[in-house]
Amino acid sequence: MSANGTVVSEGLEGIVAAQTRLSSVDGQAGELVIAGFPLEELADKATFEEVIFLLWHDSLPNAQGLGRMSAGLAAQRALPAATLNLLRDVAKERASVMDALRMGASTLSLQGENAAPGDPRLDQARRDALSLVARFPTIVAAYWRLLNGEEPIAPRADLSHAANYLYMLSGEAPSAERTRGLETYLNTVVDHGLNASTFAARVIIATQSDMVSAITGAVGALKGPLHGGAPGPALDMVFEIGEAANAEPYLRRKLEAGERLMGFGHRVYKVRDPRADELAKAAEIMFKADGDMALYNLVQDVEQTALRLLEEYKPGRKLQTNVEFYTALLLHGLDLPTDLFTPTFAISRVVGWTAHCFEQQATGRLIRPQSMYSGTKDRRWQSIDQRS
Ligand code: COA
Repeated sequence: MSANGTVVSEGLEGIVAAQTRLSSVDGQAGELVIAGFPLEELADKATFEEVIFLLWHDSLPNAQGLGRMSAGLAAQRALPAATLNLLRDVAKERASVMDALRMGASTLSLQGENAAPGDPRLDQARRDALSLVARFPTIVAAYWRLLNGEEPIAPRADLSHAANYLYMLSGEAPSAERTRGLETYLNTVVDHGLNASTFAARVIIATQSDMVSAITGAVGALKGPLHGGAPGPALDMVFEIGEAANAEPYLRRKLEAGERLMGFGHRVYKVRDPRADELAKAAEIMFKADGDMALYNLVQDVEQTALRLLEEYKPGRKLQTNVEFYTALLLHGLDLPTDLFTPTFAISRVVGWTAHCFEQQATGRLIRPQSMYSGTKDRRWQSIDQRS
């Protein structure tokens, strides 16, 4: 609090800045609700197309609605020539995938000759949202291949959103188990209250700017390691441990040195993050179908040991497994390299961002908090020759 009684809320913690029907996060109860559905009711059942429809229309689609949504997305998957040309140039600079996604996303406001015309019945924001959601996987997959000296693989309209992403990365249509594994991941991370990237998107769209600008800004916010960037290190830790017998000495060493264990602890969840449970179940199904069970078992051992040691070293801090820990296992099981973990998160979260933008547009309200001036007010002008 300042001398004049103004309360400054650094980080806006505890401030409620929007109403939303999209998701509810209860960190004390360990509960996440997505558009009315407890996460465990939705995550492993819905296709990602159904979840997109749910977030945009606040109901599950019937067969006809789902068909229209799927076809609408499939029709938009190919990239405009300008986007692809840009990605080719960016790959020469070896920029990170998140930087390429941010740059690629911003080109989607261009209506180039290769761009599919879009549905004329939709307003511009809805057309842009469809284009962004449909093309995020294409941007990521095309860029990843270019970065690795390979030609992009054209999207297939006969595959689902999730299956087509995996296909565009590897050239192989994935098994049903792998597609299900990815869909469960995408469903699980699609929305999560007023997190930093979602807030960024809402701030931008609230100025009556356009959807592409709002989503481009959100990609920039997600890129930061305090938001979207932790699953890579969680997996590195498991690989460094290597085998179950090393888990305890390795983790003890880290904790003795005052280091943090990646994939544990959360600002909001003080009980187990419900997303970790859903992803753990999805990983188990996928790994049992065609995965490296030794790795799966190692991860379980590391988790149990880490939880025991966190309680020993940090009693009462309620440090539990977070979403990043099982994200790492699941995405690794899908053969995604760690550089694609955050971009794959973005492929899901772009749906939440666009849905929040629609909500924010409906309020018509500019978001404009205040700042408290902490400088002086008595400076006097000096010409340049008077300055030391
Ligand atoms: N490993 C070891 N100790 C941890 C820890 C972890 N992963 N996370 C928190 N702690 C400890 C802190 O050192 C602190 O200990 P102290 O009270 O002795 O000083 C205490 O727990 C509280 O930490 P705090 O920084 O206040 O928690 P936070 O709510 O700000 O942190 C995270 C949340 C996610 C930033 C933090 O738990 C973390 O860094 N986790 C590892 C990175 C990670 O997995 N990120 C993904 C998030 S989804």
